[in-house]
Amino acid sequence: MSVSAGLSATADADVLVAGGGVIGTAIAWRAAVAGLRAVVVDPERGNAASLVAAGMLAPVSESFFGEEALLRLNLLAVRRFPAFAAELEEAAGQVTGLRREGTLAVAYDPDDHAALKRLTVFRRDAGLGAEELDGRACRALEPFLAPGVHGGVLFPGDWSVDNRRYAAALRRAAHLAGVRTVRDSVAEVLAAAGRVTGVRLAGGGTAAAAAVVIAAGSWSGGIAGLPGGLDGVVRPVKGQLLRLRVPAGMPPVLSRTVRALVRGTDVYVVPRADGEMIVGATSEERGHDQTVTAGAVHDLLRDAQSVLPVTSELILAETCAGLRPGTPDNGPVVGPAGPEGPDGLLLATGHYRNGILMSAVTADAVAAHLTGRPAAAEWDPFRPQRFLPASGRTAPPGPHEASGQVGVRPR
Ligand code: GLY
Repeated sequence: MSVSAGLSATADADVLVAGGGVIGTAIAWRAAVAGLRAVVVDPERGNAASLVAAGMLAPVSESFFGEEALLRLNLLAVRRFPAFAAELEEAAGQVTGLRREGTLAVAYDPDDHAALKRLTVFRRDAGLGAEELDGRACRALEPFLAPGVHGGVLFPGDWSVDNRRYAAALRRAAHLAGVRTVRDSVAEVLAAAGRVTGVRLAGGGTAAAAAVVIAAGSWSGGIAGLPGGLDGVVRPVKGQLLRLRVPAGMPPVLSRTVRALVRGTDVYVVPRADGEMIVGATSEERGHDQTVTAGAVHDLLRDAQSVLPVTSELILAETCAGLRPGTPDNGPVVGPAGPEGPDGLLLATGHYRNGILMSAVTADAVAAHLTGRPAAAEWDPFRPQRFLPASGRTAPPGPHEASGQVGVRPR
């Protein structure tokens, strides 16, 4: 689909992006860089997934049995990220906080160690870098780890970025590239004669556009006018996180991301350069509820403290809850809305646990679609059509059912 080829003379924009998180903003920025007039429509939710995330760029330690196509896409995403971030920092004049020290996964007890080893075999078989370490070697890398930590695995290919700095840099770069922002929500996609004409805004009125990209994360399904079958694909998966700070005078606690399996449950601690640490995350099916619960805060602190006893001395600076846009097969939904959708309608949603990681390659893919170029082959399994009734899928699997995941119990 080439927008530039089919522009309406009356369109306010060449491309209108519904959603101003990292996915939507990255798309708008790349579209503007490609010469398109881009508009982002976003109500500015301070607790959107992009701002609540930990910023892990973790294709390896977030890979699970049965998700090989998703792993290939995530590996493409992590390869692309440094050059994208460098160009972004240059364009925005702001840092993103990209860190490439790797991720250390550790096991709390022997059962956790056995589960971690099973996952490591799968990850090694997939050709991923993974160095097994005993407890002593883990503590040599991260001296604050508890003496009882059983052992672990170093994944050098899993990095992190400061999601809030990254989101701010994207907004700045998009603004400087001429992207306009409308503080509203898209209520409905409008089309005529089989082609998108724009959107109806929740606050009233319409905006014309030659192409519309749905990048509204877990709110994507609430937008009217999507082809039948696609409106129910994305569901919110709540994740509660903590932000901890080291008190004045205390050295940084971690030099790389630490993930831990603690009595079968996964907890991660992601350090920032300024000493902040993100502890996450729960995984809850509670609709759009974004309340922070005492039980989640307790469980996260308990598990973090089990492997990092120093946790109890840190400042609890913030608690927050975000909504991951989950899909039935845990994969994103990116590309033209398909034969049943109007021409000019694209989806870029459903990034679930990897939205920050996939933002750069999603922007590349959507910019390619918008300018009539092919997207990378890694996107082929993640087209929206797979969820249309004609694709043959009748009963989508439930969360994590598709992965055949064993050995790790997600929160
Ligand atoms: N990628 C981490 C999470 O979704 O919790």
